Amino acid sequence: MQALLLPLTARFFVFTSVVVIAAILLFADLDGYTSIYVVVPLGLFTVLALIGIHDIVQTRHAVLRNYPLMAHIRFILEEIRPEIRQYFLESEKDGTPFSRDKRAIVYQRAKRALDKRPFGTQNDVYASGYEWLDHSMAPKPVVKEPFRVAIGGPDCQKPYSASIFNISAMSFGALSANAILALNGGAKKGNFAHDTGEGGYSPYHRQNGGDVIWEIGSGYFSCRNADGTFCAEKFADNARNDQIKMVELKLSQGAKPGHGGVLPGAKVSPEIAATRGVPEGVDCISPSRHSAFATPIEMMQFIATMRKLSGGKPTGFKLCIGHPWEFLAVCKAMLETEIYPDFIVVDGKEGGTGAAPLEFTDHLGMPMREGLNFVHNALIGINARDRIKIGAAGKIISAFDIACVMALGADWCNSARGFMFALGCIQSQSCHTDKCPTGVSTQDRVRQRALVVPDKSERVFNFQRATIEALAELVAAAGLDHPTQFSPAHFSRRVSPHEVKSFAELYPSLTPGELLAGSSDRRFETAWAMASAKEFRAVPRAA
Ligand SMILES: Cc1cc2nc3c(=O)[nH]c(=O)nc-3n(C[C@H](O)[C@H](O)[C@H](O)COP(=O)(O)O)c2cc1C
Ligand code: SF4
Repeated sequence: MQALLLPLTARFFVFTSVVVIAAILLFADLDGYTSIYVVVPLGLFTVLALIGIHDIVQTRHAVLRNYPLMAHIRFILEEIRPEIRQYFLESEKDGTPFSRDKRAIVYQRAKRALDKRPFGTQNDVYASGYEWLDHSMAPKPVVKEPFRVAIGGPDCQKPYSASIFNISAMSFGALSANAILALNGGAKKGNFAHDTGEGGYSPYHRQNGGDVIWEIGSGYFSCRNADGTFCAEKFADNARNDQIKMVELKLSQGAKPGHGGVLPGAKVSPEIAATRGVPEGVDCISPSRHSAFATPIEMMQFIATMRKLSGGKPTGFKLCIGHPWEFLAVCKAMLETEIYPDFIVVDGKEGGTGAAPLEFTDHLGMPMREGLNFVHNALIGINARDRIKIGAAGKIISAFDIACVMALGADWCNSARGFMFALGCIQSQSCHTDKCPTGVSTQDRVRQRALVVPDKSERVFNFQRATIEALAELVAAAGLDHPTQFSPAHFSRRVSPHEVKSFAELYPSLTPGELLAGSSDRRFETAWAMASAKEFRAVPRAA
């Protein structure tokens, strides 16, 4: 009985109405009145009625079984919800991971449009978390400096003078060929560096001749044997290319630390296969761990091998900090082997990715500032800070972001998504679907056409240069000569409605050699005791 009354219920209203209208039109048609005004609606309502019947009998979507036809409206609204939010509801401070005003500053600087703001800050300066830089009563003149940093310790034969603001690692595969071309073209014009990401050193990285940092991950793309292990000859072949200024071993990435990756076979085009050195059309796997080393000591030996094979170029590694004792184990391995990397790049948990599981993007790994400050202090604590430069990545978009991280220990900064915005990315967050609306992160040749390389190269160049210019103004306003002079004492954060702390209080520093002498700093003491150069695993603590 209940089933018979179903068509009369509110949730079947649309479906029942469609069936009734289709039936009426059918009868009208049977009368021989075959006007187009009947035939077309009849066709339309018949199709809708059939869809409704399919909704009721299908077994995959519960909501369609209960709300035939009507539930499709929900699906459509769900689909366009992000666009509705972004276009109509988002305020200047809304939008994740990057707020509208953060994106706007990149777009404006990339287009060399007016990037000033009228009337005063929109920030609540009395809200917890608000941060500022203390200015000087005697500002310096603004310098026209490109701000560069020399990377390369005593074991490096070809030090690199890097800009302090560079393009972070993003692979060809995650990004389109046109995106890579435009990024590298911008890097060439602005004399800054472009990190390949772990997806290999592709023809698109080479074409425009911009400085390249070649990253190798656990898949050893562009330098692997058929079984996926590291191939020294292939590595040396590429690494000695003059365009490559530094080589970087990727341990982990903030958005998915400890997670490997799979590029589905369908996306492994002939070009990607040739670049990576993998078979075409077959799933391309990046394991979650390296096969070239298994202990901190072996890792340092591998760093030495990479440096040697590259002809003495700056060699370093990138990671998101996880277990503190593991990084300290690497520090102990440096001391024991006397092999030191030339640089370390610290990525933050807040970092981006082409695709990763939600649990990883949301809850695994240390945020950038804590990780950066930990690495900076650990190196001070083992007396190695002067020979190892530190890079940082994690939502660095503005000159203020750069200034903050340099105060916390970075020698230079990288931005991935900032440069994606400069390429025209609109944060639609569909990178993993191969349906990027702006051609930035798709392998679809037709969609890539949207990204016009000469125009976007110019924007990449503009964004980097305008950000450096804004940084020069901050440096001058703080009464300094160079961003490396920013220190934690220059920055303050409101930690409650009536309390403010300086970064110096929030991020206390170790003294040189403190770990070697035996530190009682709570951030380091236990982890240092648990760290062993012989294994990444924590050793049992001494009683
Ligand atoms: C699309 C995309 C691809 C990425 N691919 C890599 C990669 O291959 N290797 C890597 O070390 N990091 C990769 N990253 C991480 C970035 O290099 C960077 O460390 C991180 O996104 C933080 O910078 P951001 O906040 O400026 O994006 C990728 C990020 C994005 C958004
Ligand atoms: S526009 Fe959307 S899909 Fe394309 S790169 Fe940006 S976030 Fe990813």
